[in-house]
Amino acid sequence: MSSVVIVGAQWGDEGKGKVIDYLAKEADVVVRGQGGNNAGHTVVVDDKKYALHLIPSGILYNETINVIGNGVVFDPEGFLKEIDNLENQGVSTENIKLSERAHVIFPYHKEIDRLAEEARGDKKIGTTKKGIGPCYMDKVERSGIRICDLMDAEELEEKVRFQVKAKNTIIEKIYGGEPLDVEKILEDYKVYAERIRKYVADTTAIVHDAVKNDKKVLLEGAQGTLLDVDFGTYPYVTSSHPISGGFAIGSGIGPNKIEEVLGITKAYTTRVGEGPFPTELDNEIGDKIRIAGHEFGTTTGRPRRCGWLDLVMVDYGARINGMTCVSLMLLDVLTGFDKLKVCTGYKYNDEIIKNFPASLKVLGKCEPVYEELDGWKEDITNVEKYEDLPENAKKYIEFIEEYLELPVKIVSVGPKRSQTIIRDRIYR
Ligand code: GDP
Ligand code: IMO
Ligand code: MG
Repeated sequence: MSSVVIVGAQWGDEGKGKVIDYLAKEADVVVRGQGGNNAGHTVVVDDKKYALHLIPSGILYNETINVIGNGVVFDPEGFLKEIDNLENQGVSTENIKLSERAHVIFPYHKEIDRLAEEARGDKKIGTTKKGIGPCYMDKVERSGIRICDLMDAEELEEKVRFQVKAKNTIIEKIYGGEPLDVEKILEDYKVYAERIRKYVADTTAIVHDAVKNDKKVLLEGAQGTLLDVDFGTYPYVTSSHPISGGFAIGSGIGPNKIEEVLGITKAYTTRVGEGPFPTELDNEIGDKIRIAGHEFGTTTGRPRRCGWLDLVMVDYGARINGMTCVSLMLLDVLTGFDKLKVCTGYKYNDEIIKNFPASLKVLGKCEPVYEELDGWKEDITNVEKYEDLPENAKKYIEFIEEYLELPVKIVSVGPKRSQTIIRDRIYR
C-alpha cells in the first residue's frame, strides 16, 4: 500500500501539477477529490506545455488511471473542451474515470457566481467565475444534480426543470439578471451526457481496489490550504477542502490509508484574487518575482500577487494537513537577489505571534517579522543534484526544514520534468 496526498501549502498555484506529473510516472491511480475547473495545473514536458483543469495530472502516462472523485464539482462543457485539447495534443484520454457521485455544474451556477461577485462590489472574493461556490452550495443544500442524474434522462429533465425555475427566480428577483433558457440547457446537457457516459464509474471501488492491492495511489489536491473553506482566509477562500483530510470525503479513501502527505510550497508566496496577504510585495521586488516566475494565472490569466515566503502560514498548513514532507518549488525564481527575506512570525499589538489568526481583521494588522538570508547569483536551472546547489540556496532550504521540522524531499529548479531534484523517495 502506498498512498500519497499532494497538497498546496499556500494559496494555490504552488506547482502541484508539475510534482504530480513527476510522481505519476510510478503511480497506478491519480485521484482528484475536490474543486473543479477553477484549478489550473501546468505540466511541462520538454517544450510542450499542458494546462489541466479538471483532468488529473497523471493523464500524460498511458497506463495511469485518472479518477475524478465524488468531491469534485464537474463542468461537462469545460471537461469536454479539455478532452478535445488533450486529444489534439496527442494525449490519450481513455483512462479517465468519473464518479457517479460528483456534482454537476450548470450554467445557472456560473451565472450566479458572476452576479454574486458583481453584487459584492469592493468586497468581491475574486472567484474564477466557474460556478464552483454555487454548485457546492446546492450540494450542501441537497438540491444538487449529480453525474448519476446526468446519466438518467428522466431524472435529469425533472431536476433541471425544477432547478432552472428556482435559479431564474434568484437571477431575476435578487440580481436583476436575465433568466436562462431551460430548453437550451437540457438540449446541451443531453449531448454532454452521451459523450461523458463512457467515463462514468464507481470510482470509490477503483480507489479501494488499488489500496487493497498495494498499488500506488496519488491524491491530487487542487487549490491550497489557505483557500480551504474552514482553515483558509475565510471568506476569501474556495468552497471545498483542499487539505489532506478532504480526500477522505472527496474520494472515499479512509484517512488511515493515507501514508505520506507531501506539501507543495513555492520558495516565495503568491495569491490570486482578493484577501489579506501579510508578506505581499506591492513594489519592484514583487514585480521582479512576478516576471521571473511568470506569475499569471493558468485559469484566468490574472497577474498573481507576489511576496516573500511566509513560514508562519506554511507551518500552520503543515499541522492541518499532517504534512510528512515538503516539495520546494520555483527556487530558480529567487536567483539574483542579494538578500532574501523569510517571515518567521507576525507582530500584532506589540506581541509576536506564530499561529495563523482566524480573524481577517487581526491578520490584516499583522506585520511580518523577517529573517534575512543571503541570496545566490548562480544559475540553478540545470542543477541535478542537491550537493551542486549554491551554498546559500542550500542554507535557504535548510532554514525552511528547521523551521517546519520537516524534510524538503523535492527541490524544483524549473518547470520541466528534468528540472527536479529528488532528495529522498516519496512512495513508501
Ligand atoms: P498548480 O496549480 O499548483 O499546479 O500550479 P500552476 O501550474 O498553476 O502554477 C505553477 C507554475 O510554475 C506553472 O507555470 C509551472 O509550469 C511553473 N513551475 C513549476 N515548478 C517550477 C519551477 O521550479 N521553476 C519555475 N520557474 N517554474 C515552475
Ligand atoms: P490551483 O489548483 C489559485 C481562488 C480564486 C479566488 C478563490 C475563490 O491551480 O492551485 P473559486 O472560483 O474557487 O470560488 O474562487 O479561490 N482560486 C485559486 N487560486 N489556484 C487555484 O487552483 C485556485 N482555485 C481557486 O482566485 O480567490
Ligand atoms: Mg494553478
